[in-house]
Amino acid sequence: MAKALRIKRASAPLEGEVRVPGDKSISHRAVLFASLAEGTSEVEGFLDGADCNATCEVVRRLGIEVEAPSPTRRVVHGRGLRGWQAPTQELDCANSGTTLRLLLGALAGQEFSAHVSGSPQLCGRPMGRVTRPLRELGARIEGPDDAARAPLTITGGDLGAIDYVSPVASAQVKSCLLLAGLYAPGGVRLREPAASRDHSEVLLSAMGAPLRRGELKVSIRPPREGLKALRIEVPADPSSAAFLLVAAAIVPGSQILLPGVGTNPTRAGLFDALRRMGAALQEVSPRDLSGEPAADLELRQTALWATDLGGREVVRTIDELPILAVAATQARGETVIRDAGELRVKETDRIATTVSELTKLGAEVEARPDGMVIRGPTPLVGCEVESHGDHRLALALAVAGLVAEGETLVQGAEVTGDSFPGFAAALRSLGAEVENA
Ligand code: S3P
Repeated sequence: MAKALRIKRASAPLEGEVRVPGDKSISHRAVLFASLAEGTSEVEGFLDGADCNATCEVVRRLGIEVEAPSPTRRVVHGRGLRGWQAPTQELDCANSGTTLRLLLGALAGQEFSAHVSGSPQLCGRPMGRVTRPLRELGARIEGPDDAARAPLTITGGDLGAIDYVSPVASAQVKSCLLLAGLYAPGGVRLREPAASRDHSEVLLSAMGAPLRRGELKVSIRPPREGLKALRIEVPADPSSAAFLLVAAAIVPGSQILLPGVGTNPTRAGLFDALRRMGAALQEVSPRDLSGEPAADLELRQTALWATDLGGREVVRTIDELPILAVAATQARGETVIRDAGELRVKETDRIATTVSELTKLGAEVEARPDGMVIRGPTPLVGCEVESHGDHRLALALAVAGLVAEGETLVQGAEVTGDSFPGFAAALRSLGAEVENA
């Protein structure tokens, strides 16, 4: 895969229809949960990206057959909640925080030990948020800084019960504990400070898990009859659609259509923010895909105004904040993003890296401890920028390149394949001039 992307300023509107790859969060969950279900599950629209393929690889190392009859299809031969085998090798989660944190929850229920690790980037990210409650529930976990970071060794089995008030609104923490709850006779009850994405609740309920939900609360017990295998159709990823939506929102005269994108309200913060900024974004033909709402998204370029984003809206927009910052560079006024300190513990410190790279392009953007302030509209000027190994930053910078004078070179762009394989081709199909360099 190309190591850099060269983007020319768009000289014509972006136009056309693009199929965005499958949802990353749902693809991870589909394969992982199916590996614990009774029998064969089929996953259609799977995201064939590095992160989700790490989940497939880990599940294979636990003795589960995962077939890949096509890039976007996985067939998982689940062997039930007790069907995983003790791994003989380390479970390598590559760059994927979702793989590692969700895996730990399911491993907490297994009566064997496993070593879990990942890239140096992943090993720098906080794991105490999951290892603390898992230990409270009865798992034995060892690792650096009192198991606050990977690599970790976990020995599960013999779980009790937990009533957990999570200090962070994190779907990874919530999903980790829900998976452990499948093995905890006393049950798992969790409350979160704001509603994080609920794909685990949707899928586990469809698989027959005894799961109860209230506002900001969820509880689960071990299912008497195990989890049911399913056919799962994964919607297109709203977090990947976000890059094309913002591209069309800032390149004059653009009009695009993205079919079958997930519109789950726990993920739809960017759609709301863009509409508030004046974007003409419409959801056409709303439908249900395996229990998840989806629609065709249509966006027509219009003038943008600045907005404020904070509080509970942050968790619904968390992965889209770097691309929202790009939109804000072209919007009239001062955009303020606050209450988003979680951005500092993503693949990179996304406040620091977004500010440093957008500044190179000439944006007026300032870091705050919990967010950023962006003033616009600002003419951007193409130059060489760096992904810092962060897929969402690389994608956001490439989109900024479409409105920057001259050429923009995004170094380290191979990471775009973590979540958006085929990104350059997608932009080209809309008329943009993007080359692998
Ligand atoms: C994810 C949850 C979010 C998000 C990540 C995917 C998930 O992380 O940023 O890209 O699939 O559960 P947190 O749970 O850490 O907020």
